[in-house]
Amino acid sequence: MPEAFLTAENLHKSFNDHKAVNGVSFTIYKGENFGLLGPNGAGKTTTIRILSTVLQPDRGDVTVGGHSMRNDADAVRRLIGVCPQELAFYPDMSALENLVFFGRMVGLGGTEARAQATTYLELMGLTERAKGKVDKFSGGMKRRINLAIALMGHPQLLFLDEPTVGIDPQSRNMIYETIERLRDGGMTILYTTHYMEEADRLCQRVAIMDGGRIVALDTPRGLKSILGEPEQVTLEEVFLKLTGRGLRD
Ligand SMILES: Nc1ncnc2c1ncn2[C@@H]1O[C@H](COP(=O)(O)OP(=O)(O)OP(=O)(O)O)[C@@H](O)[C@H]1O
Ligand SMILES: [Mg+2]
Repeated sequence: MPEAFLTAENLHKSFNDHKAVNGVSFTIYKGENFGLLGPNGAGKTTTIRILSTVLQPDRGDVTVGGHSMRNDADAVRRLIGVCPQELAFYPDMSALENLVFFGRMVGLGGTEARAQATTYLELMGLTERAKGKVDKFSGGMKRRINLAIALMGHPQLLFLDEPTVGIDPQSRNMIYETIERLRDGGMTILYTTHYMEEADRLCQRVAIMDGGRIVALDTPRGLKSILGEPEQVTLEEVFLKLTGRGLRD
């Protein structure tokens, strides 16, 4: 039996009268890459904001590494890293300065923060641009620095909210390879994307959300077998079957 690392239990969150998250429960196993898919407005980012202690749920609880978010949010925060959907860094600072700053924010000493910053700049192929201001970076480089920031402090659980949106195949491939390498190193990952082939390639299990609820949760192969022979079905076909073809926004 795999070991649970994150358990979300019956999460609810409304904004005004709109139920953005409506009774979400799932488990992510240690070392797993878990995909969270869903159309625009499904509630993926709201779920991630709850799981990463940014947003308090109206109901429900989250346990990470044995720590309840309601009772010990600080312990949860020490285990996680977040790569947000909206780019989050200081545009006027260099790549290196950003990483060191965010490293200090998660409690690293100066020497350790610089050492980790060097490691993650290298991992993301940004060593040559370490001293360059981030607002001058290309879209792909901005996404890569956003991911490097999330890695500061070596989190055990990483939340990636659409880390490959709007970037070229080269940057996207580098991000894929990094994610595979991090998982091989034992990191647990929650991944959201609108690119179905990414989820198929990278995730051991995938949850499909729609209207604030999880409507399916299985391995990519298990989901594809809903429609027929898994080799002849794409995850996108399953996604459209489960969530419909109507526009959401
Ligand atoms: N702070 C907020 N105030 C009001 N409504 C919000 C807020 N945050 C999210 N919502 C609403 O909650 C719903 C879920 O939004 P959320 O951002 O979680 O969706 P998502 O699945 O991440 O979508 P996308 O794929 O577009 O990123 C949407 O209808 C959104 O408009
Ligand atoms: Mg989102």
